[in-house]
Order: sequence, then structure tokens, then C-alpha cells
Amino acid sequence: MIQIAILGFGVVGSGTAEVLTENKAIIEERLGCEYNIKYILDLRDFPDSPFGSLVTHKFDDILNDPEVSVVAEMMGGSHPAYDFTKACLEAGKNVVTSNKEVVSTFGVELCEIAREHGVRYLFEASVGGGIPVIRPIINDLASNQIGKVSGILNGTTNYILTSMRDQGASFEDALKEAQKLGYAEANPSADVDGIDAARKIVILAALASGKLLDPKSIPTEGITKITLTDTKIAQEFGYSVKLIGHAEVKDGKLLAFVSPRMVPAANPLSRIDGVFNGILVSANMVGDVMFYGPGAGKLPTASAVVADIIDIIANRNTEPKAIVWEEATDADKMAMDAYECRRMFIVKNDGGTLDAIPAKQIISTDDACGLLTDAMNETEAKAYAEKLGDRLLSVYRVL
Ligand code: HSE
Repeated sequence: MIQIAILGFGVVGSGTAEVLTENKAIIEERLGCEYNIKYILDLRDFPDSPFGSLVTHKFDDILNDPEVSVVAEMMGGSHPAYDFTKACLEAGKNVVTSNKEVVSTFGVELCEIAREHGVRYLFEASVGGGIPVIRPIINDLASNQIGKVSGILNGTTNYILTSMRDQGASFEDALKEAQKLGYAEANPSADVDGIDAARKIVILAALASGKLLDPKSIPTEGITKITLTDTKIAQEFGYSVKLIGHAEVKDGKLLAFVSPRMVPAANPLSRIDGVFNGILVSANMVGDVMFYGPGAGKLPTASAVVADIIDIIANRNTEPKAIVWEEATDADKMAMDAYECRRMFIVKNDGGTLDAIPAKQIISTDDACGLLTDAMNETEAKAYAEKLGDRLLSVYRVL
């Protein structure tokens, strides 16, 4: 009998208990072995929950119980989640997690500790909610070099942007709805300021390059400045505004950033709406592969957590395949200034001249004009933005 402990009984933690219980018969049949949830660690009590009797407030109950071999960490935040993960790995326990903050910040060290102790540290649920993406990248794209990853990586912001575009909803109302549906982080700044997407893109970038960037160091812009004028102009062009995490590896150098982007209709990411996430991976042998599915929410994310638990139980008698990452140094990084793409400048429709911008296509509404250019780098884009001065409403990178 495999004994499992759950750390954190919030949205994903309770979902994990639910998936493990609801689908116990088929999971055990597929595994050919039985499991049991022995503990749930939380500060709170849950007297009305069917899992209430499993709650402990003492981490040491789990750490010191030799029967517990799989720990699912879904506490969120860095501390004590990192400390508990480290202690469990050092005690020879396998750990699975949905905690992208911990993976993106401490992934190098935790993967190394897991390797040293002959256990697994798996984090499928940390990127893309319920979408199988990490294991397929590691296993099924193993024969490839990955050049680029672009993704809609945050369900909450995609839900908000979709509601703004399709219902003309205000940012605040759409955020409240996303919170009600259990998609948002405890502090919604992590979603709307792009921090959550930054953590996820550095994890994907590390899978592509073996180098883990500091998520706090990558250029990150969220969705709080996006206006209904911008989304309307986008629609006039047949584009959608999406929050995109982008990473690329060129000549051994790595670049990753998060920003809102204009996504043309021809790009499949333009059609990913609501809480769904989409991750487009360009690799040198397979070409372009897209991963798509529910990017947040209780049961989808729990499904990914349980996939890792199943992986651990199914492979418990084999040597773990180590994930080996290194911290990215300055020498590994590509400068953002050189990043080239098409741009869309959105300026006030004040009757003034638009000659300052080398636009290939201009579309105007009552309020604003959208000017679509050829590819230019960041330095050039900034210079054009300065020329427009007060008339500039916003400028977008085009995907
Ligand atoms: N708050 C996150 C999101 C949860 O909205 O995508 C899933 O990581």
C-alpha cells in the first residue's frame, strides 16, 4: 500500500484528494497496486469535509512517518513550501507539486536534491494546469532541440481578456468572476501583473535549454494597462490581445519574457479563449507542436498532480531519471533589445499625421488608429514610441 500525504488543502489540494478518491478504482487497477491518503497538512480544520479526519497541523507527522513515500505539495508560495519539499526529498520521499513559484525559484536545487536521494521531484501541474505538457516535452520531444516556446500560460488573464473582448466586460468584473471560479492566485497581482506567467515560462525555458532563469529577472508586463480601445483595434485587424510568455534559444543563448501581444488570427494561440491555455513549441525535428487544455481550476490541475503521483507509483521500482538544470548566468542570456517582431502602435485618432511610423497597414476607429509595422527590434520600437509622445496610447509586440 502506497501512503500519500497532501500539503495544503486549498483549491488544488482538495481537488487532488477528490481525484484520488473518485477515480481510485481505475487508478489502482491501472497501477496494479493500492494507495491511501494518510495525511492532509493544513493550518485549518475541515470538520465538514469527508477528508477532515486526515488533517494534521504538524508537518513532522508526515516527515517522520516512514510509510509516507509520496508527498503532494500544493501549499502555494515559497515558504514553507520550499522548506517542506526539501525536507521530504532529503528524507527519501518523492514530491509532486503544482507550485510554480517554488519550481521556478528553487528548481535547480530541488531537482539536484531529488537526484542525490534517488527520489523524484515532479511538477506537471506547475505549467498549463491540466494540460499534459512537461512530461511530453521531457519524454516525447527528447529527440529534438527546442528553439521557441510561446504560450498563453495564465488562465485568469486569458479569461479576463476574453470577457473584455467578447462581452465588453470591465477588467474588474472579469477578474472577480475568475476569482469566483477558483482560477486566480491568492494574490491576483501574480496573475494580472504577469508574474505567474513569468514563473511558467522560465520553467518551460529550462526544459528547452537546461538553464533556469530567475523569474524575477525576466521582462514582465501584465494586462492591467490593456484597454477596451486596444481590444477593439485588435478585432478590427482580426487579431486578439493575449498575454504571452515567450522563450527562445538561439546560438546557445536564452531569452524569455512575458507581455501582452497582438496575435494574428492565423496563429492558433489567437483562438484560445477563456480559462484555456495553449503552448506552442517549435522544435527542430518535429516542427510546431501545440498543447491545449484547461490552464487552471480545481480538478484539471488536480488531474495533472495525480498524473505525477501515478508516474511515481508506476515507476517506484526503477531508477529515477534525473532532471538536471543549471542556474542561467549572464553569459547564457540573450539581450531583449535585439528581439525583433512586428509591432502595432495604437495612437489617438486626433487627425494628426501618422507619417512618423513606417506602417504597412492602418485601421482607424472613432477613438484610435492602429498602425501595423514590419519587424523591428526593441530599441527601434522605443524610438518610434518616443516620436509619438502623448499621442501614443499603447504599443504591442505582434506574435
Ligand atoms: N492562477 C493561475 C492561472 C492558476 O490563472 O493560470 C494556474 O496556474
